[in-house]
Amino acid sequence: MKNNAKYIVASIIMMAVFTCGSMIAQVKQGKTRPLKTAQLMKGVMKPNCTQLKKGLDAGPDSDKAWAELAMNAALINEISYTLMADGRCPDGTWAKAANGTLRECSSAILKAVNSKNVQEAKKAFSAMTKACSACHDVHKKKK
Ligand code: HEC
Repeated sequence: MKNNAKYIVASIIMMAVFTCGSMIAQVKQGKTRPLKTAQLMKGVMKPNCTQLKKGLDAGPDSDKAWAELAMNAALINEISYTLMADGRCPDGTWAKAANGTLRECSSAILKAVNSKNVQEAKKAFSAMTKACSACHDVHKKKK
């Protein structure tokens, strides 16, 4: 019985060490592909978010401007899949932010943009930013 308890405690510690070790690796990068999360954020997320915000604030005045916004929203939507792929997702907070909020709100933006509704698109954009903070609060190291 005593040995059994020791074994259980040892197993729990081993599992905790293993989980934390792989969590760090997963958050910063997927398991097999080279793209780092920081690169995805800096190279794709940030520019598309900035352009989307600027474009909606300015008020798109041509089909070309609307098409740009649709591209921004679709690319952000695509990020929601990349964030869940290749073993990058470490936990439920991450999954809810990426799979839930980010994906749903970027879809809603795209839908609003496709029907040229700036107000709806802005509302969905503002809701989408909750995904950024929800995930960053837990998984982005403060600098
Ligand atoms: C599911 C998790 C998740 C979501 C959702 C998310 N991020 Fe991130 N983001 C991260 C992580 C993790 C890092 C830190 C990466 C690192 O330093 O290794 C990061 C870092 C960043 C950075 C810094 C990149 C750099 O230069 O190092 C920016 C900018 C950023 N995110 C923007 C955004 C914006 C804007 C949104 C929402 C529209 C968003 N992120 C949503 C996980 C997420």
